[in-house]
Amino acid sequence: MGIGRLSDGLALTPPMGWNSWNRFGVKIDERLVLETAEAMVSSGMREAGYRYVVIDDGWMAPKRDRSGDFVADPEKFPSGIKDLADRIHALDLRFGIYTDAGTKTCQDLPASLGYEFRDARRFAEWGVDYVKVDWCHTEGMGPRALYAKWAMALHAARRPIVLSICEWGRARPWEWAGRIGHLWRTCWDIQPEWSSILTILDRQAELHPYAGPDHWNDPDMLEVGNGELTSDQSRAHFALWSILAAPLMAGNDLRTMSDEVREILTAPEIVAIDQDAAGRQGRRVRHEGDVDIWIRTLGANGDCAIAVLNRGPVAREDHIVLEEIGVAPRTNVRVRDLWKRIDVGEVQRGIVIATSPNSATVLGLNPQ
Ligand code: GAL
Repeated sequence: MGIGRLSDGLALTPPMGWNSWNRFGVKIDERLVLETAEAMVSSGMREAGYRYVVIDDGWMAPKRDRSGDFVADPEKFPSGIKDLADRIHALDLRFGIYTDAGTKTCQDLPASLGYEFRDARRFAEWGVDYVKVDWCHTEGMGPRALYAKWAMALHAARRPIVLSICEWGRARPWEWAGRIGHLWRTCWDIQPEWSSILTILDRQAELHPYAGPDHWNDPDMLEVGNGELTSDQSRAHFALWSILAAPLMAGNDLRTMSDEVREILTAPEIVAIDQDAAGRQGRRVRHEGDVDIWIRTLGANGDCAIAVLNRGPVAREDHIVLEEIGVAPRTNVRVRDLWKRIDVGEVQRGIVIATSPNSATVLGLNPQ
């Protein structure tokens, strides 16, 4: 540990799964979590790549036990966390949990300061595969040292566990967290609103050099299917997160989601952008008025995905010269619509892209 990037192979592509927080807050219990895991299988999400079922803040009892170990809230999780993890594993899924690096969680429940090794050991005994470590109640502490301690504690627990660092991007974690954990939040909490998605997006534009296999920028969990986001806004959110090589942690109610929401979350050619094995995070090549153009290079032979994002309320048409996105002049480029999964033709010099209000057009470009 300490030299170079983490490379233990636990997150070669950005983690995919579900987390309870965005939709349920602290109102979680074992029934909800099991039903969600079952829905992940029956909806086809597991098949599409979603693996981790993560319980966020609110799972713990207000006090540790006499020996100092974490205890699950007995009303919410009467069968205990080990039993829950076993049942999730039986569905061929993985189980994730939450704690906080400070004296209390953000919801004022017991947290891990001074208990890192004990908690990591307990999580390992329970069969935890992923731990999100939050940053509330840490006054005066240095995130780098404290998260490094967490990495050591997980290492000592001798179970492969993904470490999700959640200090909201305050101490520029992209510069140091890749040596310690597999993903790190880059921003404050997302909200199920278009303005929140745009604000977060703007913070990611310069972060592409820092991500790669086993170390990912985390612009926060998905809001697809939550709040008042329209279907165009949800699609844009999902596609842009894929261009960003973001962890895809669904944050909606999987048990009751509409077909439309399910189709967004499982869209094969959009998920494939996110999970591209080369792991190169996309970047913004144009940011002008209401239009953004984002591009992500895929694989090894010059293929790429582009998203033209119309941030505003008016439909528009934008012209892109292929050189602007790094395609050599006089190259024939095959164009594919990655939502509709149809080839739309070949172009040579440039392309005109129509985008409805508050939406993103997402194309695959394949230079011949
Ligand atoms: C925040 C974190 C959220 C959620 C919440 C729980 O700090 O960013 O994602 O975990 O705490 O209280």
